[in-house]
Parts: sequence; C-alpha cells; structure tokens
Amino acid sequence: MSPLSALGVFCGLFLPLSLSEYNTHNCIPRKSVLYQDNMKLFREEGICNYSTMLVREDLGLLLLGAREAVYALDINDISIKKSWVYWRVTKEKQMECTYKGKHAEIECRNYIRTLHKVGDGRMYVCGTNAFSPTCDYMTYSEGQLRLEEAQEEGKGKCPFDPFQRYSSIMVGNDLYSATSINFLGSEPVVLRSSSSALRTEFKSSWLNEPNFVYMDLVPESNNNPEGDDDKVYLFFSENAMEYDFYNKLMVSRVARVCKGDMGGQRTLQRKWTSFLKARLDCSLPESSLPSIVQDVFLLKNDDWGKSVFYAVFTPQSSLSDMSAVCAYSVSAIGDVFNKGKFKTPVTVETSHVKWVMYSGEVPTPRPGACINNAARALGMERSLDLPDKTLQFIRDRPLMDEAVRPLTGGPLLVKKGAMFTRLVVDNVLALDGERYAVMFIGTENGYVQKAVNYAGEMIIIEEIQLYQTPEAIRTLRLSSSTGQLYAGSDFGAVQMPLSDCGRYELCLDCVLGRDPYCGWDLSTGICSAVASSSSDTDCEARELHLSPWEQHQAAVPSCLQPGSGTLALLRATAAC
Ligand SMILES: *[C@@H]1O[C@H](CO)[C@@H](O)[C@H](O)[C@H]1NC(C)=O
Repeated sequence: MSPLSALGVFCGLFLPLSLSEYNTHNCIPRKSVLYQDNMKLFREEGICNYSTMLVREDLGLLLLGAREAVYALDINDISIKKSWVYWRVTKEKQMECTYKGKHAEIECRNYIRTLHKVGDGRMYVCGTNAFSPTCDYMTYSEGQLRLEEAQEEGKGKCPFDPFQRYSSIMVGNDLYSATSINFLGSEPVVLRSSSSALRTEFKSSWLNEPNFVYMDLVPESNNNPEGDDDKVYLFFSENAMEYDFYNKLMVSRVARVCKGDMGGQRTLQRKWTSFLKARLDCSLPESSLPSIVQDVFLLKNDDWGKSVFYAVFTPQSSLSDMSAVCAYSVSAIGDVFNKGKFKTPVTVETSHVKWVMYSGEVPTPRPGACINNAARALGMERSLDLPDKTLQFIRDRPLMDEAVRPLTGGPLLVKKGAMFTRLVVDNVLALDGERYAVMFIGTENGYVQKAVNYAGEMIIIEEIQLYQTPEAIRTLRLSSSTGQLYAGSDFGAVQMPLSDCGRYELCLDCVLGRDPYCGWDLSTGICSAVASSSSDTDCEARELHLSPWEQHQAAVPSCLQPGSGTLALLRATAAC
C-alpha cells in the first residue's frame, strides 16, 4: 500500500462536496489503537461500578467513587492508590431495602454517585445507600482520605436507584441536583439545596419522566450589559408533550435556572421562577424520531457567550446504530430563552391537550427571566418581588416554542457502530496559534474516539481501545494540566494520555494524522508533542500561521522529498 492510498479511509480528507456528504454519514477513524498491556488501570478485587470521578489538580488526586468505596488515586498514575475509604451499607439498611422488594446484592448496596469539591476545599459525597440516599463530607489531609461521618439526608441530592441517570453540580456551597426525590422514582426534581432551597413543580409540563444527564454553570453576570445573573444549565431527555404521537415519544431538552432565584412570594413559593426549557435539535441521518442526549460537556471560553456545549446523541429507535455529536453555543441557547416565543397548552375536543405557540401578550417582566437591569428599573430586586402575572405565566408555560439548533446547523460528527456514551472536550493550542476543540468520545464497547473539527470538517484522528473486554464507558474526565484522560466503567478506571505522538513513526504519518497536539520534529526525526514547546512563540509554523490542515498540505511533499523548500515548515517544533 502506498502511503497516499491511506487517504481513502481518511474521513474528511476529500474536497468540500464529497467530503461533507461522506462526513455527515459516517466518520471513520484514521488510526485504530488496540488495547495495550501497559495501560494505567485501577480496579480492586470485589469492588465494581467505578462510575463517579472528581479531578483535584490542587491535591494531585483523582477521586474515584465506586460501589461502597471512594479512592484517592495519584493523578499522574491512577494505578497508585494513595488512600481510600469504604462506605458500606449497614445490615439494617440492606434488610429494610430488601423488604421493600429490592435485590439485596444489586440494588441494596451503597453506590457512590456524587463527588464535589466544596468552597472550603472539603468534598461532598453522596451514595444511594440501599435506596436511602445519604451524603457526607470528606477530607483529604496528610495523605489520608476521611469521611466526616456527619451523615446528611440525600433525598433529592442523589438518586435512590443506582441505575438511574442523574446530574448535580456544586456552586460555592450550594448543591444543584436533578434526580428523583422519592423511592418509586416517580417524582423528578431540579433542586437547589441551600439556605434558600428551591425546587421544580411536580407537574408533567415541567418534567415528564426525565432522564437527567448533565448540569453546568455559566457565569453570565460577568461583563453583562443587561445586568443578568449566572445560570445553571441542565440537559436531559423526557417524554414529549408537544407532539401528537401514537406512542411515547422522547425528546432532548436544555433547561436553565438563575443562580439568584429565590422563588416567588405567593405564586411559586420555594419553587424556581426561572425554570425554562427548550427542545434540543440534533438530527441523525436515517432516523426521523428525535435523537436522545446522552452526555454533554461545556467548553468554557473567557467570553461566556462564546462557550459551547458539546453533546452526544444516540437514536431513539434501536433500529439505527448512528451516534452523533452536536454543539450549541451559550448565546444561541440564550436567544431562545430570552427572546423566543413560548408554547402554551390548549384543550381540544374536551379532554385532549395540545401545545401550540403562544401568541398572546407576554407579561412584564418577561416570564422566566432572571432579575436584570430591566426588572431592577421596575423596582424588583429579587424574584420574590415579581408580580403574580409573570409567575403564573411561567408556572403554566415553562416550554419554549422554538428548538435550540446546533452551531453548525447539524451534527459535527456522525458515526455508525458502537453507541457513544460520554464525551469531554479539550481546547488545544496548535502550531498556528489557533485553538482547536478536540473531542474524546467514550463508547459502549470501551473505546475512545478522538476527533477534531477543522473549519467545519470533522475527522476522527484515532480510536483507542481502553478495555480488554467490551465495557461501556460510564464516566470521562479530563485534566489539561496533567494531559490525561480518565475513563470509568463497571469494571475499573483507566488513564490515557491526551496524545501519544510517538505512535506516529514516520513524518508523513505524523503530519497526516493532523493531531493538533503533535508535530514532526526535524532535528530529532520524531513526532513529538507540540505543547512541550508551546510557550515559545518563535515557532516558524506559527509565524506563518499554518493550521494543522495547511501544515499537513504543505508537509506532504516535504515528507516525500526531504530537502524541498517547504521542509522548513516542519521545523516548527524543532525551532522552539
Ligand atoms: C455494577 O457492575 C456490574 C458488573 O460488574 C453490573 O452488572 C451492574 O449493572 C452495575 N451496576 C450499576 C448500578 O451500574
């Protein structure tokens, strides 16, 4: 095989027309890296379900929550266990749980599901505790991990059911969580546990059998001309209420609440006055049903409006095996919530309710808006000051009419085969001085797909097999400072470097790989990491503003004919 025939399988190397067609229908990894014995792995005999992670770069630790145990692992080598605590269910709790009809060894155990850093540097940890969720504080000092044994009620903060998806985030000392608040799992809530605790209404128009996947904070009060508030965004799927469909139809949603929300005075007392939700659009080829969001990652930008949510979607129907990634800008989501129309229920044929666009008058202040300059100008300093009209409107109409569309109009990436489960995104500075969003996508068979977007063109740089046997990746975390990715599954946790440029042995391979972490070093004749020299701005390629794409185009001839004029471009890393 000639080196160039490899191009044939290189998704996205073709020119615009054929490229976009090929690209949107199926992206194929350029390189496939099989399982390697030297992979840094952590697992302990008798312990399973390594599904919760907290990266503490400040402590040099990866905290790993599993079934009835929390481990403090060395962030640089997770096979090194520095300390650990066991948190087992008591015999009484386990019995109580089995009396209620749950399985003793499966459901009636303590699955650690929540691990957050709190304001004072301690950690907050919650477990399902045999269908009786419980939380505690945890410290790490003098090399010792310790539970404070000051157990708190975990209802609404952590699921009862270990199999239920859920999400939470700690903002200062306030825990925002989205889960079921009862044993049966029939009462979903989005809850803020703080001195002024708030929750969602128990109404199917607010949450309808939801499956919560992700939450994050966007600091929208920074440099905000409207004097707006910080917001917590939530991603989930739920049963649609806005479609007439013969069957249950699921849709993906984004919702948000304002950090400063204090609830209403009479209407919506101790409930969110700012809970708004919209459908998330990400259409998959070969499927007419809405796709289902499985995981999300917020790629933060100093300018919060330019921050982007990357989301993984899978089909609703088991007939398709296409997964996709769609991206949404914070500002586009904001436009739908801040300027869009609402949906409203109307009763047709006596009992049947249909949701249609609301075209009547919208009260002032705008329903669902945070307290901003406009509200303050009307003398409303807190959500408690909002008029009943605004509150009643939002209580009955939390859904926006318009869906949030992806940044690029459609999916960034589509792939057939093993379903995508989780993703994280790294912001990488390449030799051209540009930043690229590199996505690491976990699959249900234990692979990570590493993909990057070059000006609208998506390529999968490589796929890496992390587990010897097919294991669903249940959690992914990234540490940019150590350059490591951590994956958790039922079986164990695995660590991999964000890049392994040494895998590319030949110049052509290295450059064709188009991995923004890597560059060919002419002085040593090695494909090496760009980051190690990225502090120096004298790089030739950077001066010439070559993107990894142009660099590759310029480099192909120089790899083939050493000594040609373009060779100097490859000196980029060597020059630093
Ligand atoms: C825990 O792991 C076992 C396999 O090791 C799996 O069968 C089970 O479904 C997992 N439980 C949860 C709650 O994920």
